Amino acid sequence: MAFSLSPERERQVDEILTHYPERRAALLPVLWLCQRQNGWISPEVVNYVAERLGLSTAIIKGVVTFYTMFFDEPVGENVVWVCRTLSCDLRGGKAIQDHLEKRLGCTAGRTSSDGKFTLLKAECLAACGQAPMVQINDYYYENLDLELLDRIIDAHADKGGEAAAAELSTFARFGTPRRNDRLAQASAPPPPTEEAVRVASQPPPAAEASNAGGDES
Ligand code: FES
Repeated sequence: MAFSLSPERERQVDEILTHYPERRAALLPVLWLCQRQNGWISPEVVNYVAERLGLSTAIIKGVVTFYTMFFDEPVGENVVWVCRTLSCDLRGGKAIQDHLEKRLGCTAGRTSSDGKFTLLKAECLAACGQAPMVQINDYYYENLDLELLDRIIDAHADKGGEAAAAELSTFARFGTPRRNDRLAQASAPPPPTEEAVRVASQPPPAAEASNAGGDES
């Protein structure tokens, strides 16, 4: 069956397209919208995007298979990314993965038999200071131990992702900060000073030197 976006998401595509001089440049955000609705980038989604953006299906498949955050096969209701880079591994990342594999009954890269969880390995998710950590759907769960991990998995299975995240996720959320807005605001960088703007708008020293050399010859 042909894929189509909801009217609201169609409006979002129209809006996204106004940001780019060429439609093909909107490929990533349009694919992301489609995956949000469909759960994965199915062949029908590929055909829809190809027609909407005037691209070949080969280009779209190439992009989808390049980026790990696009799924080219169905995934579970909850996608669990377990970080396996150095900081997390030094603090038990391997044990987190082993525990999840046992608990969910599937190895990394697979989906549990009840369809509730897909387990994936991730490279550094930029929360090294709170290692070990996992990302589940859009939310970060940090400073994990196996007991906390079990509570998180139970909450996702029993209450659904949003309720579980509201109860147990840390403030960091993929996309915009959702919790602890005060902390997010406090870490926002200050605007540049007038002096910084003045210095930044001057030509680089190398250009001045090469101009000076040109005058001499
Ligand atoms: S190593 Fe896990 S978040 Fe950086």
